[in-house]
Amino acid sequence: MDLSRLDPKRMPRHVACVMDGNGRWATRQGLPRTEGHRAGEEALLDAVKGAVEMGIEYLTVYAFSTENWRRPQDEVRFLLGVIADDLLTKRRNELHEIGVRIRFAGRRDWRVPKWILGRMDEAAELTRRNKATTLTVAFNYGGRAEIVDAVRALVAEGTSARQVDERALRRHLYQPDVPDPDLFVRTSGEFRISNFLLWEIAYSELVFMDVLWPDFRRGHLLEAVLEYQNRERRFGLTGDQRDHDGLPG
Ligand code: IPE
Ligand code: IPE
Ligand code: MG
Repeated sequence: MDLSRLDPKRMPRHVACVMDGNGRWATRQGLPRTEGHRAGEEALLDAVKGAVEMGIEYLTVYAFSTENWRRPQDEVRFLLGVIADDLLTKRRNELHEIGVRIRFAGRRDWRVPKWILGRMDEAAELTRRNKATTLTVAFNYGGRAEIVDAVRALVAEGTSARQVDERALRRHLYQPDVPDPDLFVRTSGEFRISNFLLWEIAYSELVFMDVLWPDFRRGHLLEAVLEYQNRERRFGLTGDQRDHDGLPG
């Protein structure tokens, strides 16, 4: 990976990624869809290594949505296995060694088997002091569910209508300490958000790529960051008022 192509002054702090296209990748090779998920786990590992090399502080990946439970039962079971056994158990130490802090975002509701919650907690605990890159795995995640959960928390703590503002709501999102994504990437040529980080991507730069997720490697992440570096962020102001990162120019 040619890091010299990057402008170190314009690096995204937080990259969010919709890892899409596993099923199509497998079908194209005459394999069952589940093989695409297995191959997708490899791709994720390479992307994380790329994020560490580039010095990206936060990488948030969409692994399983609140809507994905409606897929065929066998596929759901396989996906949970890939996430819990391959990523959280076999890869955990490898990620730990390169300084990755692993976290989760999503609903911890009855649909998530207890043993998976246990593996998530173990991985988070093992890696919690790591400083290289924070990898957040969005699992049983829905952007609308996240906003609903935040509103519930506000109501539960007795917040009055006058006290509800953007800051109060943000405090109750799943990752209140993480800056909003600067860059949002989706693979597989689909131009959709699919309920990912609805609140947080208000001013993210969106990059859609044709590559199917199992073929994604750190070089693709580099390409997405280069595309990001060519964008002009404005945050509602005029181009003269702001530089690329939206800071006063
Ligand atoms: C992304 O790949 C993985 C998950 C949604 C869990 P898909 O399984 O959605 O693959 P396509 O979109 O059907 O090709
Ligand atoms: C989004 O992909 C969810 C994940 C990548 C985990 P989907 O494949 O579920 O999204 P749609 O159905 O194409 O919108
Ligand atoms: Mg898909």
